[in-house]
Amino acid sequence: MAIKIGIINQKGGVGKTTISNALSYEISHTKNLRTLLIDFDPQASQTILFNLNPREYIKDNQHNIAKIFEKQNILPIKIRENLDFIPANLELSSQSESTVVGKDKMLQKFLNKIEDNYDIILIDSNPSFSSLMTNVVLASDYLVIPIGTSALDEAGAHGFFQIIEDIADIYEKAPAKIYILPTKYDRRRKDDREVLSILQNELSEYLSTLGNLKKSEFYVLPTIPERAVVKDAAASRMFLREYVETYEKTQKGLVLTFEEISKELTKTLINQDVSIKSKKKVKVAGKK
Ligand SMILES: Nc1ncnc2c1ncn2[C@@H]1O[C@H](COP(=O)(O)OP(=O)(O)OP(=O)(O)O)[C@@H](O)[C@H]1O
Ligand SMILES: [Mg+2]
Repeated sequence: MAIKIGIINQKGGVGKTTISNALSYEISHTKNLRTLLIDFDPQASQTILFNLNPREYIKDNQHNIAKIFEKQNILPIKIRENLDFIPANLELSSQSESTVVGKDKMLQKFLNKIEDNYDIILIDSNPSFSSLMTNVVLASDYLVIPIGTSALDEAGAHGFFQIIEDIADIYEKAPAKIYILPTKYDRRRKDDREVLSILQNELSEYLSTLGNLKKSEFYVLPTIPERAVVKDAAASRMFLREYVETYEKTQKGLVLTFEEISKELTKTLINQDVSIKSKKKVKVAGKK
């Protein structure tokens, strides 16, 4: 069974695609875990980041995530060792408006079939509330919610938590862990410093009032700063770590933040791994 992680926020442009892309590299390459990344946004920004043409996948039955609404099997594309990807395109939008029974659970049902092939499945959600977003919440064990540290980005956060609360109420299923991820932080801006303090110190109090999420654990992840190198890496269609290690070594700290976040998200798997390794060691020592 894989851990399924939705990177989600109703707010547009807060970094969902950037973060899921960077994490897919950290988890598959640095942590060496079998990783699947799914573009679940009809805008298909993640697909474009992988230098794939979304239009080529329209009407393609094999590699088209929209086909889950027709209950078809989908084959992930191998990007590199340990990293598979499923692209999106505009068809996802019309398919999700179809009248198929149980359409809010189609992603969950699809992942049930393929999750044994992976350790981690990352889902890059669309912004704006729709059946697509409900699919991501219901399919995810953990939610990572990037919230920009400008006042405007933070303002919508409460409304978004209410949506997750409502989904948990109606479907009687809440994510096991909810991670708040402060992002696009500029410490020179007073606004950002104030919002960061709210996210780190006050949000958990509000979240504890949401009754249907009472079994969910809440965490605040390390803050991602706003850096021009993020846009440069995307423009070069390179993973952030690869871009930084090739062209911008002074930005290594940013990569380390993503590494730390991936460590937190995978810690239950890594701990299992460590205990397996330590058992092996004992065995070898016994032989000697
Ligand atoms: N930490 C950062 N520093 C600077 N720019 C960033 C950072 N994170 C994201 N960006 C830029 O902000 C823009 C929006 O980011 P991204 O596409 O990842 O957001 P999104 O939440 O996926 O958007 P959408 O809601 O449209 O799917 C992109 O141009 C991206 O390069
Ligand atoms: Mg996006």
